[in-house]
Amino acid sequence: MNNFQNIWDFKNTSKENLTQHAFDYLVGGADDLRTFKRNIEAYQHFQIRPRRLIDVTNVDTSMELFGKKYASPIFLAPVGFQELFHKDGEIPAVKAAATKNILSVASTVTSKSFSEICEAVDSPPWFQLYTTSDRTTTTRLLDQAQKNNCKTIVLTVDVPVPGNREKHIEILTGSMRTENTLGNFKDGGADFDPTLTWDFIPWFKKNYNMNLLLKGIMTAEDAALALDYEVDGIIVSNHGGRQLESDLSTIEVLEEISKTINGAIPILIDGGIRRGTDIFKALALGATAVGIGRPYIYGLATDGQAGVEKVLDILQTELVRNMQLAGATSISKINKKQVREKKF
Ligand SMILES: Cc1cc2nc3c(=O)[nH]c(=O)nc-3n(C[C@H](O)[C@H](O)[C@H](O)COP(=O)(O)O)c2cc1C
Repeated sequence: MNNFQNIWDFKNTSKENLTQHAFDYLVGGADDLRTFKRNIEAYQHFQIRPRRLIDVTNVDTSMELFGKKYASPIFLAPVGFQELFHKDGEIPAVKAAATKNILSVASTVTSKSFSEICEAVDSPPWFQLYTTSDRTTTTRLLDQAQKNNCKTIVLTVDVPVPGNREKHIEILTGSMRTENTLGNFKDGGADFDPTLTWDFIPWFKKNYNMNLLLKGIMTAEDAALALDYEVDGIIVSNHGGRQLESDLSTIEVLEEISKTINGAIPILIDGGIRRGTDIFKALALGATAVGIGRPYIYGLATDGQAGVEKVLDILQTELVRNMQLAGATSISKINKKQVREKKF
């Protein structure tokens, strides 16, 4: 692993280390994978406009969200079923994030329970929520998060039903759920919730005192509604191309969403981030933080916590170098003028 240079090196090793089934689950997406591929490719249609003659000896990549300062704008997006990729499930990745002072988000469908994950680190990760139409289960999950001192809930809004992932649909719909333990559902109860609507937000606000972010926003219209409903932030995401195959990538919709939000709440983004230049472009177009999903799981499958840390180091080193080459000495100095879009 010492000679690994980029994310693709980790992807190749994970393919060797994982069962075909686990690898398919990791790299898969909906239908013909067009949205998954476009998430990555679309970054090539945005070019960086570098500024010159700026002292870039020191570059500050720190980022603050809800009063907590992180070392980098990179965060670990929620990924379920991590025991498929490592015997210790979510623990290595959450520890890697804590070691690097990086934000991480634990999924609802983790192999370990949220309480077990929180025990492994000093400060709890954010909790990603999948609701069930039965509010009792949702309440139990939120109570567990609150009991563990979790301050921020990420409500995923792009999974009313499972996407058409032909290679691994069974993981989502049945058999794999019994083969792999789901830490938060030891007595069962995990299900999809096609009944979820905006009404959830006032219910949540009435009953819980935690920040609420919506993950899966892809239009300016929904961004405007998110503001109306007074959520604390949004994550621009299409679930890494695993849900609706829509041919729109997250970086393409970021600008319209950013215009609507106009600085009122933080905008996070994920999907297709594989290079420091991708992170730079997303920050320039209005993101506060930039999430990775598959890339850190490639690290996890390659070498557990050390693998995740190395993935983070590589992306962070690339980001710093690109900031220096483009003349930006801090995250706040990366602005829209530093990126130009060439339409597809
Ligand atoms: C194997 C896998 C499992 C995932 N599980 C979840 C999940 O449980 N909850 C969720 O909100 N998103 C989940 N996602 C989506 C990620 O949070 C994220 O949106 C996506 O991976 C970002 O795209 P990227 O993989 O290109 O970085 C999952 C993604 C992958 C690849």
